[in-house]
Amino acid sequence: MKWIDSHAHYNDEKFNEDREEILRLLKEEGIKKVITAGYSLQSSKEAIKISDQYPFIYNTIGISPNDIPEQKEELKEELEQLKKLASLSEKTVAIGEIGLDYHWNTENKEIQQMAFKEQIKLANDLKLPIVIHTREAVMDTIQILKENLPNEKGVFHCCPLNRELVKEALKLGFYISFAGPVTFKNSKNANEIIEMVPDDKILVETDSPYLSPEPNRGKRNDSRNIRHIVEKIAQVKQKGIEEVTEMIYQNLIRLFKIENEK
Ligand code: NI
Repeated sequence: MKWIDSHAHYNDEKFNEDREEILRLLKEEGIKKVITAGYSLQSSKEAIKISDQYPFIYNTIGISPNDIPEQKEELKEELEQLKKLASLSEKTVAIGEIGLDYHWNTENKEIQQMAFKEQIKLANDLKLPIVIHTREAVMDTIQILKENLPNEKGVFHCCPLNRELVKEALKLGFYISFAGPVTFKNSKNANEIIEMVPDDKILVETDSPYLSPEPNRGKRNDSRNIRHIVEKIAQVKQKGIEEVTEMIYQNLIRLFKIENEK
């Protein structure tokens, strides 16, 4: 089966001890495509490095709302460097993760919004889709997307299970990526949200090393756990696992313009 993971962080230091071993295991277990996502300049460089070494790994580069500098001048400098990184790898498939996070940071909304808009502009210049991180910032995220339309669309990564957000995201032509939380016993509206998303807009991700799904909640996550998320979607959509896996694989290669597996 064509398992994929649309969002993981093999550039995270939690994999420093055994990265090679884990990536070998993923390959062995039939994980066909993994997108390792940047969230800062440094982690974007690491993501590029890893995707250079492993044919089945692709990268995204970007500065997340939780990693932006405090001063606008520094941000401008970092955005310049990000632009340079964009020309390094043919396996850079998106700009991300970018967006807004008012859970961890509420005092720097202005600079968060500036970073988000500037990176949408960069994605448009490069004709790449975007990977969005949004937390407790539904209205502002949608507002910015409407005013700064990403031409190649993109995906809401680890999409918050918020009806309004998903409705607006779909209207804008975005994909919705589901992660571990849809398997949590206390996530009451997971079924309803999964049902809202059409088959051709669904993606799945682990967000490794974070957010392990049930039954592995609390442990370090890796892409082998993707099957628990796919199972949840298959159950809600009343389809077979193989059908759902194939459908999600096709969505991934369509959005990120990745070559089909021969
Ligand atoms: Ni992430």
